Amino acid sequence: MRKKSVAEKFFWSQEKEMAKHRIAVIPGDGIGPEVIREGVKVLEAVSKNLGGITFEFSYFPWGCEYYLKNGQMMPQDGLEKLKNFEAIYLGAIGDPKVPDHISLRDLLLKIRFGFDQYVNLRPVKLLESIPCPLKNKKPEDIDLVVVRENTEGFYTGIGGRHKKGDSKHAIYAKINKVFADSEEIVTQEGVFSQIGVERIMKYSFKLARKRKKHLTCCTKSNALNYSMVYWDEIFKKISGQYPDVKTDFAFVDAICMWFIKNPEFFDVIVAPNLFGDIITDLGAMIQGGMGLAPGGNINPHGISMFEPIHGSAPKYTGKNVADPIATIWAGQMMLEELGEKKAASMIMEAIKKVLKEGKVRTKDLGGTSATSEVGDTIVESILKM
Ligand code: IPM
Ligand code: MN
Repeated sequence: MRKKSVAEKFFWSQEKEMAKHRIAVIPGDGIGPEVIREGVKVLEAVSKNLGGITFEFSYFPWGCEYYLKNGQMMPQDGLEKLKNFEAIYLGAIGDPKVPDHISLRDLLLKIRFGFDQYVNLRPVKLLESIPCPLKNKKPEDIDLVVVRENTEGFYTGIGGRHKKGDSKHAIYAKINKVFADSEEIVTQEGVFSQIGVERIMKYSFKLARKRKKHLTCCTKSNALNYSMVYWDEIFKKISGQYPDVKTDFAFVDAICMWFIKNPEFFDVIVAPNLFGDIITDLGAMIQGGMGLAPGGNINPHGISMFEPIHGSAPKYTGKNVADPIATIWAGQMMLEELGEKKAASMIMEAIKKVLKEGKVRTKDLGGTSATSEVGDTIVESILKM
């Protein structure tokens, strides 16, 4: 490489100090735009306080309204448009006017799969002074992370409806009245690739190493004799590379029971796509509710997307009552992933402080504050740091 001149070095170092992050923002449907507004506000506040870090937000008005106008959830070249950003910040998707399997598959899942965001990182952490529905559980008892495989399992969309449904054969048969309605056959495949399973296991072991060095394999190999036995085998094989991490297996149904009875048992849990989806709703409830649960769809070498794990809650749309904390927290996870550790910890501190003070809380936490008041209070707290 050519040696840099003094002037070039100067500008280079200035540029390095002034990190500018280009973020694609998809506010989406329902309460999505309201919570994402607060998330963006908080990121701007961090930038203002810290200096040296700025954001350029580009907004994409995709979602169900877009679908009703254009017949698709996002433009044909949607992924192409997102390709030039460092990360994606998403509110929520879904509206009663559009079937969920269309709206979610054609936008949320399309992005998760399209950018190979194979890790769905979902921390389950009870913050201080948050009411927990479990008796006698304290913040130190509920502090775990679910690593959900995010590109395979039952989510690939491989399968079909035959004899009565939408296959060519079925349509032909229907016209000719060959089959009775009762003969319909439907399949939805569970897909597990060696590459897919190995990489999620490795990610989870590495994460466990940074925490309490305990990794639980969420499985169902007692019933699913191919896919989950394979999943367990790979877990065992990869564990050999991480002898310092304590391991165990737990069936997904038992994990549900333990989340209620002994959540303190867990540190990191690695779960296949569908099971990970299910146990993280339960996880959200034991950490205080859906309003507090963030998630990251991560491609460690590519473009990741951050979102609250709750849905679009259509009945609360435009009422300014939704809890924005999950989204603000997802923004914090985005900064972590972008390597902005200091900025990330600033947001986390502010969330904790405001919740602990307990003066400004939305309805889900027993308060009366508006969505925007919660955002404003977190902003104030950051600006004072
Ligand atoms: C989630 C959601 C999605 C999922 C739905 C909306 C497709 O429940 O992010 O947890 O199942 O992954
Ligand atoms: Mn879910």
